[in-house]
Parts: sequence; C-alpha cells; structure tokens
Amino acid sequence: MGAAAVLPTVGDALADAVARLAAAAVPEPRADAEVLLAHVLGTTRARLPLVDTVPDESLSEYDALIARRAAREPLQHLTGTAYFRHVELAVGPGVFVPRPETELLAGWAIEHAVEGSVVVDLCTGSGAVAKAIADEVPAATVHAVELDDAAYLWAERNLAGTGVDLREGDMATAFDDLAGTVDVLTCNPPYIPLDAWESVAPEARDHDPHLALFSGADGLDAIRVLEHRAALLLKPGGVVGFEHADVQGVSAPAVLSATGRWTDVRDHADLAGRARFTTARLAR
Ligand SMILES: C[S@@+](CC[C@H](N)C(=O)[O-])C[C@H]1O[C@@H](n2cnc3c(N)ncnc32)[C@H](O)[C@@H]1O
Repeated sequence: MGAAAVLPTVGDALADAVARLAAAAVPEPRADAEVLLAHVLGTTRARLPLVDTVPDESLSEYDALIARRAAREPLQHLTGTAYFRHVELAVGPGVFVPRPETELLAGWAIEHAVEGSVVVDLCTGSGAVAKAIADEVPAATVHAVELDDAAYLWAERNLAGTGVDLREGDMATAFDDLAGTVDVLTCNPPYIPLDAWESVAPEARDHDPHLALFSGADGLDAIRVLEHRAALLLKPGGVVGFEHADVQGVSAPAVLSATGRWTDVRDHADLAGRARFTTARLAR
C-alpha cells in the first residue's frame, strides 16, 4: 500500500501564491493570497491561522484563482464581493469595482444628508454610494441612476430591498421629476482623459467597463454634464459632491466656479494628500 499524499499546509500554499503574485507585480501579493485562500476554504482571513492543511480540491481551485489574479483580474471579481463602508456589494464583469477612496465622497454625503433629505447618486455603477447612504441615513430618500445595461443589473441586485429608487438612464436627462427638490447630489463619474490609457492599472483597464473610466480629452466631459444636471436638480442651497482624478484638483472645481452658479466650491484631499473630490452649494 502506497503512503498517503501529504497535504500542503496553509503556510506552504500561501508562500507559493505570494511568490506567484509578487512575480506578476500584483500590488499587495500577501493580502490577496490570504483573501483568496480564505475564500476557497470558506473562512475569513483572520481565521486562516486556525486551519492546518489545504484539501486537494481546494488547492486546485486556489491554484486557478491565483493564476487569474496573476493575470491581473481584480481581486473582487474573483471573490464576487466588494466592501464599501458598512455594506457589501456583488461585483463581477460589467461593473466598476467600488474603490476605498470613494468612501470619502460617500462619507461627505452621509454627513450632509439628514432625516427627510432627498439624495441623488448619478453614475451609480454597482450602487455602492447609494447603498452606503441608504444604510447610514435610513431616513433619507435615495435615488440612483446608471446608463450601462450590465452595470444597471448589478446595481439592481445590490440595491434590492434598500428602498433606493434605481433608474436606468443617462445622467444628462435623469430625474426630471425631481427638478429643484434635491438636497444632496453625489457622483463618481468617469474622469480619466482618453489618452491616459497607458497609465491605467491592468485591473482597471482590462476589467472595468470603459464607460466607467474615460471621459473625453481632458477627462472632464462627464463632470461638465453633471454640473449642468446638478444645477437643475438641486434646490437652492443644496449641495453637490463628486470625485475626480488626483490631477484635477484645480480643473474639476473650476468647472463649477466658471458657471457662477455655485458657492462654497471646495476641493478635498484624501489621507495621502491627493486631491480627491469637489463639493459646492447651489447659489440661492
Ligand atoms: C467610475 S464608475 C462609478 C461607479 C460607482 N458610483 C462607484 O463609485 O463605484 C462611473 C459609472 O458611471 C456610469 N456612467 C457613465 N456615463 C454615464 C451617464 N452619462 N449617465 C449615467 N451613468 C453613466 C458608468 O457606466 C459607471 O458605472
């Protein structure tokens, strides 16, 4: 009788995976290797040290996921889940993966939304910002719109049961019925200049929908549209907040300032000091 094959330990499986991800220049190889192993084993990252060995069938599943991550598929597409503030979102091909930096914009909106506020999230994608606001300010009425068919289906799934009024359509013409009634308007629009293609990480360039990323020669086309729409939808004194690229800390707020329709135009940096989002108040 032959000796039973020795199963690899969690430590061995992780060491091999980390080396493969690092060789593929994945930015956080250890964290990703641990998340994927926990996913395969049906446990959490924090509980991995309590597991001794990796069964054969899990090992082959893990091997396949590590190969896909090494080919720079986004981690969240492999687990099917993204976390955003206190909510969980289903994500996969066809929808922009919500980013941690957008939690700042959502936090700003949550601070400004009070009981009875009417909130609109343009370009909702997976529904991340709308879902976080509905979760943290349950007494607000939240509306969201998405143009892309595939992304809309993900938003529909993520916003089911949240009370958010989700619509499919173009932000340029959305919510005529709410004109002049909105208290807080958020948007994380596409904002990458078309010719910046080369500088975009493979996870985004090859897996996020291009409608979610690129917006004209200077990256500001969608921001110009949202400025127009926000001015129509907000009530006088209502506030708008929108994300932009770190190089747009001057040009993005200037889109608003140039119209003379806004007061308190401010740009906000993230914890690393990078310009991240603009806010303003519609003049009374
Ligand atoms: C950068 S993603 C942001 C998604 C989500 N708000 C988030 O923060 O994770 C931009 C989204 O805007 C959508 N979009 C682009 N142009 C649009 C338009 N004119 N009207 C509505 N949605 C649009 C894209 O399909 C994409 O889902």
